[in-house]
Amino acid sequence: MPGPRLVILGKQGAGKGTQAQRLAAHYRIPRISTGDMFRTAVEHNTEAGQKAQKYMEAGELVPDDVVIEMVEERLKDSDARRGFVLDGFPRNAEQARALDEALGRKAVDLVVELEVPTDVVLRRLASRRVCLNCGAPYSTDRPPAQNWTCDICGGAVVQREDDTEAAIARRLDVYTRQTEPLVAYYLGQDKLASVDGTGQPDQVTGRLLRGIDSRLNRRSGGTVDGDREEMG
Ligand code: AP5
Ligand code: MG
Repeated sequence: MPGPRLVILGKQGAGKGTQAQRLAAHYRIPRISTGDMFRTAVEHNTEAGQKAQKYMEAGELVPDDVVIEMVEERLKDSDARRGFVLDGFPRNAEQARALDEALGRKAVDLVVELEVPTDVVLRRLASRRVCLNCGAPYSTDRPPAQNWTCDICGGAVVQREDDTEAAIARRLDVYTRQTEPLVAYYLGQDKLASVDGTGQPDQVTGRLLRGIDSRLNRRSGGTVDGDREEMG
């Protein structure tokens, strides 16, 4: 049975990666994280990685053509036919329009915005650590069980290269100028659900699941899965 097609929006450190992973497990849909895809591409020194690296290190957006092509290709994979949660895409109006075009009739069902004040995200980013291999997020407050190796895949858990003070400030500025306007864009499509992203991760997940299920139930007049067609 198909799952939902979701986008998760929110400032850097709002918990998009943390919550997208949980939503993906709950609905049995893939989490598509452009940040993780780029970090893997940089690590493997692919063409996309070479193009992306300098922008990522500076806290700038990677050029739209590179990102859009990468996401369009990923959405063609068979696992995305039953739904997906997009984490970190779209990030500006150009990308949002490209996504609408790529999905056509099988458009995004719901865009959830995680609302977290800036002082809280700054604290979270300072203590964040991530798995180099699978991107799973940890923090100095919530480390992996064993010696900074990932609980999920055993990869090394490290600090991200763009979690420096200068790059964080740049990323937050880019968010305000380019990504925040998407809230109005999706409100205009009646697809936006804003959720309080503060508190413990489990509390946030509970709010998200209640918000998503009630919005999608209302729209389909039935279950979250509804009777929508599969992509493909
Ligand atoms: P990306 O990897 O997407 O990074 P980001 O947007 O900067 O967002 P973050 O990953 O920093 O935050 P998050 O919301 O995922 O928070 P997390 O769950 O980790 O992008 C990186 C770069 O790639 C960009 O700067 C750009 O260069 C490029 N890029 C990516 N997509 C692009 C696009 N579409 N277009 C152009 N360029 C693109 O949580 C943060 C920390 O808080 C963790 O330690 C976590 O454990 C902790 N935490 C989470 N929830 C809670 C909670 N409830 N309470 C306490 N701690 C919590
Ligand atoms: Mg993230």
